[in-house]
Amino acid sequence: MLREELARRGVPMPQAKTAAEWEAMRGDVLTLMQKEVYGIRPPKPDRVTYTDVTTWEEEEVFMSGIHDKYRIQVEVELSGRKASFAFHMGIPRTMEPCPAFVSLSFYPDIVNPYQPAEEILDRGFAVASICYGEVTKDDGNFADNFADLIYGGRERGPEDPGKIMIWAWTASLVMDYLMTREEIDHDHIAVIGHSRLGKTALVTGAFDERFAYVISNDSGCGGAAVSRGKGGETIEKIIARFPFWFCLNYQKYVGREDEMPFDQNWLLSLIAPRKLLVASASEDLWADPNSEYLGAFAAGEISKLYGRGFAGPDRFPEPGDRFYYGDVTYHQRAGKHYLSRNDWNLYMDYILRDMGR
Ligand code: GCU
Repeated sequence: MLREELARRGVPMPQAKTAAEWEAMRGDVLTLMQKEVYGIRPPKPDRVTYTDVTTWEEEEVFMSGIHDKYRIQVEVELSGRKASFAFHMGIPRTMEPCPAFVSLSFYPDIVNPYQPAEEILDRGFAVASICYGEVTKDDGNFADNFADLIYGGRERGPEDPGKIMIWAWTASLVMDYLMTREEIDHDHIAVIGHSRLGKTALVTGAFDERFAYVISNDSGCGGAAVSRGKGGETIEKIIARFPFWFCLNYQKYVGREDEMPFDQNWLLSLIAPRKLLVASASEDLWADPNSEYLGAFAAGEISKLYGRGFAGPDRFPEPGDRFYYGDVTYHQRAGKHYLSRNDWNLYMDYILRDMGR
């Protein structure tokens, strides 16, 4: 049924029948997604320094003293320019290296409405939380902090990165740091984000293969949802309000989804053979759960070349559907656009089970 729906909408599927065929075309897909949607990923910085700037007060009151708290200042140099941001990190005191989240966050504090940090740490996960607005503001100003680092005052060209790509790139700088911490299990690090930051999590994971799990919560348009035939937000609507999230080239697809030589399932496919978790909320029609489900379903075709592919049934989802233990998984929480405690717990259940715990 969903294969017919994809065909009816005209969603293109990458033409790869084996993992080797997919790997032969993967580099071109990465290029396509950069040039047409998110912009070219910035180069490796010339220099990055990480400084622990945690204050004694921050440490002292954190989570009843059973977990450790850090604030790490990241200073980056590129082509003679500098930019910096600080991220917050909680690490549970466990005997073994722990799985971790790189969390793209709307808030500066590690404990916030979308992030039940105490419960995350209590379940044995570390969390490194980046406040996206500290990296570069969520607006059309490309002279701000990391946008300035990358642009150096020049005009935006058609393939230059939008803000999503810039936020995603800094998530990889946090990943570099986590790789130096021996309390962290480097093979079990997830990137997670909600909504616009769910889009950002997908871009982060597509380009950085060190992430074993990529979690997109209610990411919708320009995220997990296929653009063709999508309800709620369309490319036209997202470009009208948030043109700065994408590269300028993307604007040529306003009202012309059918002309795209790809769809969002191509971005999702880049995550294979690693684990992709897509989630929707039943009342989030702006993001359009059915189109998010179709994106995950279609990405499962590439994932299947390596392993289990998509685990959900061949029909549109319903609230409460939980389709675990595929390499691409999906769940639909009843309710509104939100990253809830329930969502987090399901993601943690999945990761722990995947780790055999
Ligand atoms: C707007 C936008 C969405 C985005 C959402 C969010 O609704 O249209 O694309 O996902 O904001 O980030 O909350």
